Amino acid sequence: MRTHYCTELNEKNVGEKITVAGWTNSYRDHGGIIFIDLRDKTGLIQLTCDPEDSASAHKIADSVRDEFVLIAKGTVRLRGEGLTNPRLKTGAIEIVVDELIIENKSAPVPFVIGDKNVGEETTLKYRYLELRDPSVYETFRLRSKAAIAARNVLDANGFLEVETPILTKSTPEGARDYLVPSRVHNGEFYALPQSPQLFKQLLMVGGFDRYFQIAKCFRDEDLRADRQPEFTQIDVEMSFCNQEDVIKVAEDLLEGIFSACDIDVKPPFNRITYKEAMELYGSDKPDLRYDLKMVDVIDIFERCDNEIFTNIAAQPHKNRIKALRVPGADLVFSKREMKSFESFVRQFGAHGLGYFQMKEDGLKGPLTKFFSEEDIQLIIERTELEVGDVVFFGAGEKKTVWDYMGRFRIFIAEHEKMNLIDENKFEFVWVVDFPMFEVEDGRVKALHHPFTMPKDTDKNDVEEIESIAYDIVLNGTELGGGSIRIHKEEIQEEVFKLLGISEEEAQAKFGFLLDALKFGAPPHGGFAMGFDRMMMIISKKSSIRDVIAFPKTQKAACILTNAPSEVDNTQLRDLHIRLREQTKA
Ligand code: AMO
Repeated sequence: MRTHYCTELNEKNVGEKITVAGWTNSYRDHGGIIFIDLRDKTGLIQLTCDPEDSASAHKIADSVRDEFVLIAKGTVRLRGEGLTNPRLKTGAIEIVVDELIIENKSAPVPFVIGDKNVGEETTLKYRYLELRDPSVYETFRLRSKAAIAARNVLDANGFLEVETPILTKSTPEGARDYLVPSRVHNGEFYALPQSPQLFKQLLMVGGFDRYFQIAKCFRDEDLRADRQPEFTQIDVEMSFCNQEDVIKVAEDLLEGIFSACDIDVKPPFNRITYKEAMELYGSDKPDLRYDLKMVDVIDIFERCDNEIFTNIAAQPHKNRIKALRVPGADLVFSKREMKSFESFVRQFGAHGLGYFQMKEDGLKGPLTKFFSEEDIQLIIERTELEVGDVVFFGAGEKKTVWDYMGRFRIFIAEHEKMNLIDENKFEFVWVVDFPMFEVEDGRVKALHHPFTMPKDTDKNDVEEIESIAYDIVLNGTELGGGSIRIHKEEIQEEVFKLLGISEEEAQAKFGFLLDALKFGAPPHGGFAMGFDRMMMIISKKSSIRDVIAFPKTQKAACILTNAPSEVDNTQLRDLHIRLREQTKA
């Protein structure tokens, strides 16, 4: 019905007869002339309805209200002097309307389209209205471009797009499953896939060699700003490959996607080992847009005159004493502020947060008295202190110190007085050589999943065993991850043994995969990228919900459709389900 989208028009179209279509963003009556800002997915243009140009169009314009659906025919004209609107892409022109059609009316809308200060209860209930905002549309335009670019890169590299089942059996990604009761099999359930992990491995056994899928995944876990209960992965698997081959494909993919979104990224990306990441940044997903690094000072503290520190330093395999130099902090933070940082780290298990200030006349701070002159000098050298800097210390059990010092590092970088983050940077880093296992409350767990290939298994301490697993991290967010998989039965059995998974349990859970591995499984590996997370970063959004057309709330509800909801008793009876009284209430 239209000849142009609103923002396709510019000064070059002056004098042309055109037709535009869209929604009424706003209207105003100025001395008998009615101005309507018409909106479509691209943006706004001003319609001018003057009774002297067209009495009938003016009459119709008089009954137009917000969000009415309009089709306007008219002529493009330059706006008069002093009437241009530099904030609008089409602010130099207007359309003199000679025919106006109200294609549909609209009930009064619950919020003004584009208003960013409306509560989520309302915007998600009327999400389709929020989607009318051209800036929201832009996010989804990028998402579509990115998905198409991903397909193109993978297709060009010989990958086949294959769909795997949604009604399936529990997959091993470690979150809670969403279950679907079976009507036909009384008392039995499907699980929605947490990822296509097992099926993609079966495709490799099936000889497909290179697979990908833009796959919906479902995980019933606690939600955060970068997590949704259903989300999308770009999922990839390949055969006869090593870690280098997989990383190369992942980097090509990222380069292609980012370039489709007009962002230049240049692989190969930096790599650090998991150990380095933890020791330097206190996190396995470090934000490398800023250069704050932790330094080990446990050997220096071992010699100090304070028992708390010497006791911690006496067990260097279990404990850490880490120093974080914050350039210029002494010049911007008051003593009170520096003290207050302690309450921040205490939330994460710290007992305190010591600090030294580098003044013109040397290192100052209540703790300096415990150190010899030489050791003070050594601290200055090792942390590369300059006048105006502050160095903070965390001491204690290593995982706790990594965690709170890592969080403190981010806290400082984001602090409005430091502002160390360049929002226009895209800093990718591969974190490699992940530990195969982690021990939680005495239980051995797989850090990725139990099909990850260990580097070797003959270590005394299971926590020392490394895996051929890698994560890609962007600006401090885990964008994706993957591994080389176990393709030999005997290694898989050994890993299950270390995990304390019995043969029966393994058979019941993943028997079909174990069976498949017996029939000549090729060496294989792959990765999955969190597509929503990626788009969140590309579109510079603070919540994953902004890049999902119909997202769920923090409580995993869809306010728009009112899901989850009760179902009637016949449906439950068919599914052999009876609700307990208390769950109903
Ligand atoms: P993993 O569990 O690390 O790996 O998931 C891969 C990526 O998916 C994204 N992601 C999420 N995004 C939004 N909401 C969630 N709830 C959510 N959970 C995960 C993250 C994450 O990095 N099968 C393996 C991959 C493999 O080994 O090939 C897997 O699923 O960005």
